[in-house]
Order: sequence, then structure tokens, then C-alpha cells
Amino acid sequence: MTQKNVLLTGIKPTGQPHLGNYFGAIEPALKRADGNRDNFFFIANYHALNTIDSAEELKKLTHIIAATWIASGLDPSKCHFYKQSDIPQIFELETILNATVPKGWMNKAHAYKAAVDKNRADKKDIDSDVNMGLYNYPILMASDILIFNANKIPVGKDQIQHVEIARDIAMRFNSKYSTTSLTLPEYIVEKDIQEIPGIDGRKMSKSYGNVIPLYGTEEDWFNSIRRIVTDSEANHTIETFKATTFYGIYHHIATEEESQKLCESMVGHNIGWKEAKEDLMEKMIKRFKEPSSVYLDLLHDTNHIDSILDEGAKKILPIAKETLGKVKKSVGVI
Ligand code: TRP
Repeated sequence: MTQKNVLLTGIKPTGQPHLGNYFGAIEPALKRADGNRDNFFFIANYHALNTIDSAEELKKLTHIIAATWIASGLDPSKCHFYKQSDIPQIFELETILNATVPKGWMNKAHAYKAAVDKNRADKKDIDSDVNMGLYNYPILMASDILIFNANKIPVGKDQIQHVEIARDIAMRFNSKYSTTSLTLPEYIVEKDIQEIPGIDGRKMSKSYGNVIPLYGTEEDWFNSIRRIVTDSEANHTIETFKATTFYGIYHHIATEEESQKLCESMVGHNIGWKEAKEDLMEKMIKRFKEPSSVYLDLLHDTNHIDSILDEGAKKILPIAKETLGKVKKSVGVI
């Protein structure tokens, strides 16, 4: 029997998306979506509760992530597009799975381990500032995936372990209850994607404060681009120029030819950093201005966003109910 492919991925609404999120997760996930698959894209707003404690902020970020997906090319009529909180079966499944997941698996999950390590280094209680949402994060993420029988999960490298745990949870459940109710998921990580550096040269990340925002106004972009670290090296070779933070960012946005041209101009001293940054601004505008206006328009009409998400959830509730029904039968509650 050949199983159909069901692709699923989610984004936590915890911050304004930046270029790193776009090139590392959003663009590759949307490229993977093709006509032969059932594709599920969602906003993981319950996951965001672990860190966002203002209702207003969470609502705003939820709309921002929804608008980002759509501006990036997601067509809600061709895929399943929804927010996690509209699928209550996810949370019921999580409660059932809690009973089968060994606590030790959660102790080893990297987000929790990182929090513990940091507390240790800071000489605090190891569980200081760790809430149960963070601790149980992998079980909720497993429920997101398993409720829709998803088997292909495009994620960034940092999420591989979570998908592996979801797979382990599904296997354990199926074997414990001698059932095939849960589909075993596998992750998809794009190998040939180069990480985009932040404006300070480290990995682009909200927590380092070194991001270039994805969608927004030209002013938003310019404020970041002008702060990209540059050296005063007057004699770059093609190799040393290609190793700069600036080029690391530039070549993600510009075409191959444009990148080559910039290299030659910089190495040949025809232009300096100021002109290079202006050039980058131009390329940002060329690539992201149109989707930015889609994004900004959507955010002016959040009712429209809400109705798209509501519709999206309604269409897939029957699938969630069916999976949960099988699971409830397997454990003996119906
Ligand atoms: N944990 C993911 C992240 O932080 C977001 C996420 C939640 C997710 N549930 C998911 C991704 C299910 C893929 C599948 O990026």
C-alpha cells in the first residue's frame, strides 16, 4: 500500500519574522508544497503561550504570522491553513499521549535541557523559570503532527529532535495499544540551504537582536541594513569579500549574476560599502516590496485574516475528529 504524503509545518507566533525565518523555513516549506500532497500550514499559538503573556501581543503576532504566510505565497484555497487553538482535538490528544510518554524523554529535549544548563551556569535552581508548557513542548508538537496523520514535516535543523520524539511517541502508542492509529512522521531538512548571517555576523536570530525584518517598510529594512558590520579592508579579493557578513546576506537576496557583479565592483574598488548597502536596499525592494504591500494590506484587515483561518480550521476538523476517535477507541474511553 502506498501511503499518500501529508506535509505539515507550523510557526510559533513569538516575534516578527525575519530573513532567517524566510530563507530557512518559510520559503522551503512553501516550495515543498505541491499538488500531490495534502499540505497543512498553521500558526502554533498555544506553543507561543509559553513565552508571550500579553493577550494583545499574542493576537497581534498571530495576525503577523498569518499575513506572512500569505504574503510569502501560501494560497489558502490550495492548502490547509489554520491556527492551532481552533483544533481542540490537538489538546485532547496531548492529554492522552501524556500518559504514554516517559518523563525521561522530556528531560532530554533540547529546549528544556538548554534552560536547565543555563540555570546551572547561573547557579540557579535548575528549573527556575521553566514552565510545564516548555517541558511538555515536544508532546504538544507531536499532537500537532499526529492529529492530521502527517508524515512529512519540513523543519529547520533545530526542530529535528522534536520530530524524532513525535515519531517515537507514535510508535510507542501504536505498540502499547496494538494499533496503527498513529502515522509515523519524518522530518524534511533542506541540505543545501545556507544559513543567513545576522547584521553582526552571528546566526540571524531574534534573541541576538541582529535581524533584518522580512516584511515591512523600506525604513524598517534600511535601519537594519545600515548597521550591517563591515570592515575597513580596502583590498578584498573575491574570496575575502565572499566571506564577509555583508556578502553572506546579499547573495541570499540577489541573483547569482547580481552577486557576481557586486563582487567585481567591490574588489575592483569601483564602489565602497555605502554603495554596496544602497545596492542591497534596492535588491530588498525588488524582491520583497510587493509581498510587503500584500502583508501590510492584510494587517489592515485582521477580520479578513480571522475569517480565512476560521474557514481553514472548519475544513479539517473532521480529520482531527477521526484521528482522535480512533485513539480514544484504542485506549478505551469510547
Ligand atoms: N516547534 C516549531 C518551531 O519552534 C513550531 C511547531 C509547532 C511545529 N508545532 C509544529 C513545526 C509541528 C512543525 C510541526 O519552529
